[in-house]
Amino acid sequence: MNLIDIDDFDVPQLHRVLDTALAMKTGEKEPPGRLAGTSLGMLFERPSTRTRVSFEVGMTQLGGHAVFLGKDDIQLGRGEPVKDTARALSGYVDAVMARVKSHDDMLELAEYAEVPVINGLSSDAHPAQTVADLLTIREHHGFEDTTVAWVGDGNNVGASFLVGAAMVGLDVRAATPEGYEFSDDTVERADAYDGDITTTHDPISAVEGADVVYTDVWVSMGEEEEREEKVADFEGFQLNEALLARAGDPSVLHCLPAHRGEEITDDVMESERELIWAQAENRLHGQKGILAELL
Ligand code: CP
Ligand code: NVA
Repeated sequence: MNLIDIDDFDVPQLHRVLDTALAMKTGEKEPPGRLAGTSLGMLFERPSTRTRVSFEVGMTQLGGHAVFLGKDDIQLGRGEPVKDTARALSGYVDAVMARVKSHDDMLELAEYAEVPVINGLSSDAHPAQTVADLLTIREHHGFEDTTVAWVGDGNNVGASFLVGAAMVGLDVRAATPEGYEFSDDTVERADAYDGDITTTHDPISAVEGADVVYTDVWVSMGEEEEREEKVADFEGFQLNEALLARAGDPSVLHCLPAHRGEEITDDVMESERELIWAQAENRLHGQKGILAELL
C-alpha cells in the first residue's frame, strides 16, 4: 500500500501504527532487524531536517538502509520523468519516501512505482507528520474529550492533520484566514470520521477551551515571494500568549521549522506549553510505525 495521505490507512490500521510506534518508543516492542535487508529510497525535491533524518535513522534502527536521493543528485533534476524514476527505483528499493513540490507528482510516483510510496510532504499532504502529531496528543492528552484548535493555513500539514484527527475521534476547530480555508475535499474526508470538525475565520473562538493549539508556518516552502501578503492576511492568527490565554492553558504544537515572530512567538516556543520538541522526536517513532506497517 501507499501512504499518500493519512486516510490511506483505515482507522484500525492508523491505531495500529500509533500502537506500534509507541511500543517501540517505550521499548515494549523493538523488532530487532525487522527490516533487515530492506532499503528505502528517499527522494527530496525540497529541503528537510526532520523528515529526512527520522526516516533514515528509523530505517537504521529497524535493521534496514536508507538511500538519500536529492533531486539534483539524480536524473530527475535533469528532466527524467517522474514515472521513469518511479519504475527504475522500484527495481532497487523496497519503498520510496518522497518530498515533492506538486501533489500530482506524488500521485504519478505512486501510480508508476511497484513498491510502496510514502508521502514525506507534498503541496497537499503530510501524513507522516500527522502520525507524529497524533502520537504526541495521545501521549500527553489522550484522544477522549480532547479538543484541538488549528490556527493558520489550510494547507498540507493542517489538511492531513484534520483528517487524521477526525479518524481518531478528536474534535478540531480550524481557524484559517479568508482565502486560506481547507479545501472542500479535506473537510468532507474529515467529516466521514468520528471527530467533530468545525471551521471558522475567527482564531479566538477556535482556541476558546481548546486543550491543544496547533499551527504551521504562514509562508510555506516555495511561497517566499508571497511573504508580505501572507503576513498581512494572517494578522490575528499568531500563537502568542494573548491568544493562548483565551484557550485557558493549552499545549502548543508546531510541525517545524518555525518562523518565530510570524505564526508563533519566541516566548510561546520557549514556554512550558510547548510539546513541540516531543512532537519533533515523535517523527522518528512515527516513521518506525509507518515503516513497520508498510514493509
Ligand atoms: N516537519 C517537517 O516535515 O520538517 P522538515 O521539513 O524538517 O522535514
Ligand atoms: N507547510 C510547510 C510545512 C513544512 C514541513 C511547507 O509546506 O513548507
